[in-house]
Amino acid sequence: MAKKNKTLWGGRFSSGPDAKVQRFTRSVHFDKRLYKEDIAGSIAHAHMLSKIGILSTGEFRAIEKGLKQIESEIDAGTFRWKDAREDVHMNIEAALTERTPAGAKLHTGRSRNDQVATDMRLWVKNQITVDLQLLAGMQKALISWAGQNMDVLIPGYTHLQRAQPVYLAHHLLAYVEMFDRDRSRLVDARVRADVLPLGSGALAGSTIPLKRELVAKTLGFARVTANSLDAVSDRDFMLEYAAANAITAVHLSRLAEDLIIWSSAEFGFIRIGDAFTTGSSLMPQKKNPDVAEITRGKSGRVIGDLMALLTLVKGLPMTYNRDLQEDKERLFDSVDTVQETLDVMAAMLYDIKVNKATCTQAVSDPLLLATDIADALVLKGVPFRHAHEIVGQAVAVCEKSRCLLSQLPLADWKKIQPKIDPDVLDVFDVKKALARRLMVGAPGLKQIKAEMASWKKRLARK
Ligand code: ARG
Repeated sequence: MAKKNKTLWGGRFSSGPDAKVQRFTRSVHFDKRLYKEDIAGSIAHAHMLSKIGILSTGEFRAIEKGLKQIESEIDAGTFRWKDAREDVHMNIEAALTERTPAGAKLHTGRSRNDQVATDMRLWVKNQITVDLQLLAGMQKALISWAGQNMDVLIPGYTHLQRAQPVYLAHHLLAYVEMFDRDRSRLVDARVRADVLPLGSGALAGSTIPLKRELVAKTLGFARVTANSLDAVSDRDFMLEYAAANAITAVHLSRLAEDLIIWSSAEFGFIRIGDAFTTGSSLMPQKKNPDVAEITRGKSGRVIGDLMALLTLVKGLPMTYNRDLQEDKERLFDSVDTVQETLDVMAAMLYDIKVNKATCTQAVSDPLLLATDIADALVLKGVPFRHAHEIVGQAVAVCEKSRCLLSQLPLADWKKIQPKIDPDVLDVFDVKKALARRLMVGAPGLKQIKAEMASWKKRLARK
């Protein structure tokens, strides 16, 4: 019989760890959130052990019953976690063994190294399903907002300078595209997370003839890992997930930035609802876009999580090293932050009003159609570089004489280019100008309507 020792590896130790060490090395206060995955993994493992004759059917039933009981106690908040038991795995296993002697057989052919890798892969797969829903919710919120403002035009910007007119819907659909790439990155990352490490042992598999495919099937994994050393040390699936999250966070941050500037008095394009803004404790008139600002701020943290994970893994020799215990909090933070942000930002989009008059005013600047005049000249046979020069000179004349480009008299155009055809100056109608943008990807109303319809159809299935 092993001597009494608090730890599960007590056999060769004469004392338990120092209190400081116990505190320093424990992870149960954060990895306990893996309990569902850990229990599912243990039941699948025990089931397989019963199939290869290590556990009797009765022992398997007792283990399954005990684990399910523990799971409902954790659900109900009545389970007593013990720091001395270090992590989620040892807490659950020790509690099980207190309930049934068969618990002592559960860890056969298994190490916490392949166990934790399995738990994390299960957890990642589950969370990605949640993310896909939240991203679709975000896309739906953008489509709904766009759909209510189909006739609103705004200036499109490059370098944050007014460039060319676009429909607001086109601008919002740009974010729908971005969030769709986020979705596809996650779907792609999920394929590589969908591999079972269990059966790899501490690093070198097991002499016990474990049936890995059976466990994979029970747990819903597509494949089993092909190299035991890689299986216990690989954290690529977390890096990929954190990287995908960092990109999503950057997309959210950019959307937030647009909302912040649009809601400023200088732009005045939108008003964010009271429920999604806050006031100032000092200045009574203030209404601040804090949700958007915090979203912008949170992106730094999610990028930081990715950097921490990359740095954590980069110097590790094969195979499992205890450093890897540090992976969880960073990944949890990355996932929690992005999920909460997606949720609150999508809700906020439903509470934004567009100031159509301000948008119309902003987009009415005829300079936004300068390129269209150049295009019209090109269609009359003028080489583009000459057309660009002609319009550029006209803009300079307008700037000097402080007149609108649309009001520059024909005589002045003729001074620049005597052979100018007066009908090229018919371009100064924004809606008509946009209607001329006919190709795929352009902001013509017809294309935007088609895009909206196609997104609605695709998102209805999500
Ligand atoms: N709590 C550990 C972790 O998260 C579990 C694996 C521990 N393995 C070990 N050999 N000490 O990484």
